[in-house]
Amino acid sequence: MILLSFLPRPHGGKLIDAFDPYFDFTHVEKELEIDAIAKSDLELIGVGLFSPLTGFMGKADYESVVANMRLQDQTIWSIPVTLPVSYETAGTLVEGEEIKLVFENQVYGVIKVSEWYEPDLDKEALEVYKTQELAHPGVKRLYERGSIYVAGEVTLVKKQEKGVFSDVWFEPRETRALFEEKGWKTVVGFQTRNPIHRAHEYIQKAALETVDGLFVNPLVGETKSDDIPADVRLKSYRVLLENYYPADRVQLGVYPAAMRYAGPREAIFHAIARKNIGCTHFIVGRDHAGVGNYYGTYDAQLIFSEFTGEELGIKPLFFEHSFYCNKCEGMASNKTCPHSNEDRVILSGTKVREMLRSGTLPPSTFSRKEVVEVLIEGLKQQQTV
Ligand code: ADX
Repeated sequence: MILLSFLPRPHGGKLIDAFDPYFDFTHVEKELEIDAIAKSDLELIGVGLFSPLTGFMGKADYESVVANMRLQDQTIWSIPVTLPVSYETAGTLVEGEEIKLVFENQVYGVIKVSEWYEPDLDKEALEVYKTQELAHPGVKRLYERGSIYVAGEVTLVKKQEKGVFSDVWFEPRETRALFEEKGWKTVVGFQTRNPIHRAHEYIQKAALETVDGLFVNPLVGETKSDDIPADVRLKSYRVLLENYYPADRVQLGVYPAAMRYAGPREAIFHAIARKNIGCTHFIVGRDHAGVGNYYGTYDAQLIFSEFTGEELGIKPLFFEHSFYCNKCEGMASNKTCPHSNEDRVILSGTKVREMLRSGTLPPSTFSRKEVVEVLIEGLKQQQTV
């Protein structure tokens, strides 16, 4: 029997599986201490979320991605996935050797070193993040992480502990099976690094009007320190979905990647990862993956016109800036509301985070009461720890 799937083929054609818990590395002596971002990238390469990547990028792929948003073989790829080390460590590397990738004394993977090279970090900052300012959290991290990139295929030998996320942590093979099981032929993915406010809910549900299922896929990897911690956000997602979303049409699942804050480039990266997960559609609203004023409000939408729908393989759904309008007495957007900003409930992310941390309730027209209560309580508990 031939099973017909409506879900998109993985990026590059094949879902990568580089997980091998029985991989024998007893003969491998050398160790490399990796950071939390590399640990997350390693796992996401290993489980196929970053298909077609099979390891940390070599020089040719890296330079091609930075300059042209494509791997050397022309597959679309917009964000470098690299393993930085210091000059001293680079001095000890040997081509073809295997090295254990260690985080907090645990071996998570093994890399087979194919090469190492000195990246042009200034160029990477400018092309990928559109700025070299250290005030940009992605750029700051880029310059801090290391001056030499080690490349090579990886084997994932251990997956990270899932903790409070365990029931909502799915790998691409699992999400694909889940969507098939639910009979969803079209699934829209939603990325967020924030609690879900009314505007998010509005665009999610507007998207859901035209597709079979909604995959609420909040990022729970590394974020900047003033973003709301993922475990606190998780509680708010649960309470929101339980009370206001149809269970048979919506699935919650976390996206365990590190946030890059690379705006337009990251929107493409986010879309490709969601295609690997099995989504057919992907929501891109205002200033997607943006930070500060580094990107134009709709740059993350405009960048999609640089690629054909066919080679991208997932359909972006664009949404205008949305808000509650007091005169419309409902949610609306620049596209549908004729009133002025005075009538609209618009709060910046920074302002809302400040309010929540000080225990002040944002208006219910901005965020649902149940969500706000859970967030304030969660943040209070963290402050007392
Ligand atoms: S992101 O960094 O993860 O993209 P955020 O959690 O703020 O940030 O946004 C999640 C998604 O919702 C993104 O696609 C973003 O563009 C969209 N979005 C956020 N707020 C609004 C809004 N008020 N109107 C329209 N789209 C929005």
